[in-house]
Amino acid sequence: MRRVIIAGNWKMNGTIVETENLIGALLAGESENDKATVVVCPPFVSLSRASELLNGTHIAWGGQDMSEHVKGAYTGEISAEMLLTVGATYVIVGHSERRQYHAETDDLVNAKAKYALASGLIPIICVGEMLEEREADRTEEVVGTQVMGTLSGFSAADLSKIVIAYEPVWAIGTGKTATPEMAEAVHSFIRKKAAAVDAAAAEEIPILYGGSVKPDNAERLLAQPNIDGALIGGASLKADDFIAIIRAV
Ligand code: 13P
Repeated sequence: MRRVIIAGNWKMNGTIVETENLIGALLAGESENDKATVVVCPPFVSLSRASELLNGTHIAWGGQDMSEHVKGAYTGEISAEMLLTVGATYVIVGHSERRQYHAETDDLVNAKAKYALASGLIPIICVGEMLEEREADRTEEVVGTQVMGTLSGFSAADLSKIVIAYEPVWAIGTGKTATPEMAEAVHSFIRKKAAAVDAAAAEEIPILYGGSVKPDNAERLLAQPNIDGALIGGASLKADDFIAIIRAV
């Protein structure tokens, strides 16, 4: 039985006070669900406060990105160790917004994911095609290259500790969601690709869907056999919506 994970990527939203309010509402709103692991990824500045509020609760927390370097002269970057010191257990790597706006490549995402694993963090490795790529019928080529590139050099033991998120770029923040069937087809393709590294470990990787997941579409997406959870942007900023998605598991 694969683990189901409902993760909120808050992106660049929320001050510390807003983080306190949102976490307060999530904790008050009975977001606990014995079928799903719940994770939130607030902005870096809020992580320390988030850790104080979430410590000892059912909600885990993580970073939205991390550096592939240990420490040093990398202005603006955050290290794995810094995430660990605020109790983070997860870190998102290779989000399409990092790939698009910060020119992150599969090699870089691979280095970040490897370093996350070596540090004891669980990387949530993001992949997904752009609209032009889907329209040109290149989804499998693009996603396949991303999966193989980001998992390069991984052992079976590494695979057993990662999470993958399929986020079609055209579905992020647009209100357009992949249909459950479209998403399932790509999820099953991703699992097959990962099976080239290790078949047994690939079976156990939680593969999350992301891209305009809302309370009204979550249940149908999550019902697909290879959709093991969701990585949620916009709807994770509204406690009621996020809780409704958790309840849809
Ligand atoms: P939305 O849910 O806002 O489409 O964002 C998805 C996402 O990018 C999560 O990482």
